[in-house]
Amino acid sequence: MKEEKFKLLENLGGGGFGRTYKAQVLDNNLKKEWGDIVSIKVPHNKLKEKTLLKEAFKYEKLKDIESKNIVQYFDFDLYKEQYVLVLEYVVGQSLDKLLKRKKKLTANESLDIIEQCCEGLIAAHKVGIFHRDIDPSNILICDKNNIVKISDFGIAEILRSSEESHEISGKLDYMAPEVFEGKGSFSSDIWSLGVTLYQILTGRLPFSGKDQDEIMNNVCNKEPIPPTEIDRNIDNKISQIVLKALKKDPEERYRTASEFLKDIKFYRNKKDVGDLLNLSIAEAWDLFRDGKIRETEEKLKKTLAEYPNNPYGYLSLGEFYNRCEQYALAIDVFNEGIKVIPNQLLYRDLAISLYQKGRVKEAIESLQEAIALGLEDTVKWRATNLLRLWESKLGKTEKVKKIITQQKVDVVLIVAVDGPMKGHKFIIKKKLITVGRDENNDISLPLDLTVSRKHTLISCEDGKYWIEDTNSSNGTFIEEFRINKKGPLPNGTLFKVGETILKFRRYGIFYDTYLKIVEKLK
Ligand SMILES: Nc1ncnc2c1ncn2[C@@H]1O[C@H](COP(=O)(O)OP(=O)(O)OP(=O)(O)O)[C@@H](O)[C@H]1O
Ligand SMILES: [Mg+2]
Repeated sequence: MKEEKFKLLENLGGGGFGRTYKAQVLDNNLKKEWGDIVSIKVPHNKLKEKTLLKEAFKYEKLKDIESKNIVQYFDFDLYKEQYVLVLEYVVGQSLDKLLKRKKKLTANESLDIIEQCCEGLIAAHKVGIFHRDIDPSNILICDKNNIVKISDFGIAEILRSSEESHEISGKLDYMAPEVFEGKGSFSSDIWSLGVTLYQILTGRLPFSGKDQDEIMNNVCNKEPIPPTEIDRNIDNKISQIVLKALKKDPEERYRTASEFLKDIKFYRNKKDVGDLLNLSIAEAWDLFRDGKIRETEEKLKKTLAEYPNNPYGYLSLGEFYNRCEQYALAIDVFNEGIKVIPNQLLYRDLAISLYQKGRVKEAIESLQEAIALGLEDTVKWRATNLLRLWESKLGKTEKVKKIITQQKVDVVLIVAVDGPMKGHKFIIKKKLITVGRDENNDISLPLDLTVSRKHTLISCEDGKYWIEDTNSSNGTFIEEFRINKKGPLPNGTLFKVGETILKFRRYGIFYDTYLKIVEKLK
């Protein structure tokens, strides 16, 4: 029996797609990548598994999201002959479990959570992935440090896009009105987060109903009661923020997670440099997502000029160039940043640009530098994977090079032993070799005017060399005899074209030796 890579430890619960388990990683190599414990999502049934399989390639994209506020997606793998998703395991609890105990949270607690969710959304939206199913059960809070992580990113969207019926999956209470019409997009995630904020602040949902129809009707047509009317302790400004996230028309809603975050931060009067810089960068990425390339570059350059001592300015501008496939510009920006402030992420991103430029060895060095400087766990995981991939690629190209250079090849050495071009040497690795006065011949004899433009042809067939005259005026001779039809050309033969006597030799030599000789003869 095949050895399993995982051992299930605990059933954590389940939702629309399948069940989630805490699992131990048994495979040592995988352990190095993911750590000892992961979470595994097992589809409910064969149909769901089939969907999963069909869309597997899309999951790769999830690896591009980089944020501590997102549960890291690791892989898509087989467990007991069933395809499952492997994700980071979060030691903590989901927001819905917390709400079961506490019913509602203070404004500060609520905003702490939502701010981090916004950061997660910014990172995912930046790479073009939206969640579609944000609700308190998909918001996890780490026990250790209260870091908030959104789970199941992109999964609902991927599954939905592959379901022929396009049935509405997910929880209606958290769905934006446009989702019911199949027009979900990035701002639908903001709606769902708005519903969540409403719920944790007030202890109740903004739109409810006795059945699905009533909920849908309320979501689409009813205005929610402002949070401050439910609880006078809730500041009117927060109430306004929540209501803006819940605007039915996506155009009136916060268009982006960074706009949402900005309002929260300004309300909380958190205006430290890091926040403002991050917001400015987030706004730039929003422009990028909307296809405003020139504006993105301007905004990022301006941000960098404002915060020249912060690595994130360089990181973002460099990443922008990377994404525009302007790797040389990216390399400059990262190097400049490294000069100002050596930072692991700068080394990591520099590595990516170098790799794209085909400078694989330097890329590997830069990536090693980044890892040595100490990357955050999930970032390190990705960097280590990349390093392994690059090293194996480099190994392969070196191997291929070695195989090629160690191969013996047949080459022909023709030396002019007499005549106007005496001393000239030609080394050729070809099956057809032309001799003549013109430059485009393999053996060109421009100094011998008695040679025709195209004079003689040497060919290799079945491992033997042959010579023939190609209608030259003066003929081709072997030892005084003019050849009038194609004949054998044994090793060491002297032949004469015009006034030039050439010596023909064939060799079996190593390819790298051949390259060296060619270099020498140049
Ligand atoms: N990566 C994870 N690490 C730790 N616990 C998790 C993880 N993902 C989910 N859980 C826990 O498992 C429970 C079940 O999660 P699951 O995603 O299967 O269902 P759901 O979130 O309730 O519904 P759905 O995601 O389908 O909308 C969650 O409430 C959460 O407590
Ligand atoms: Mg979930």
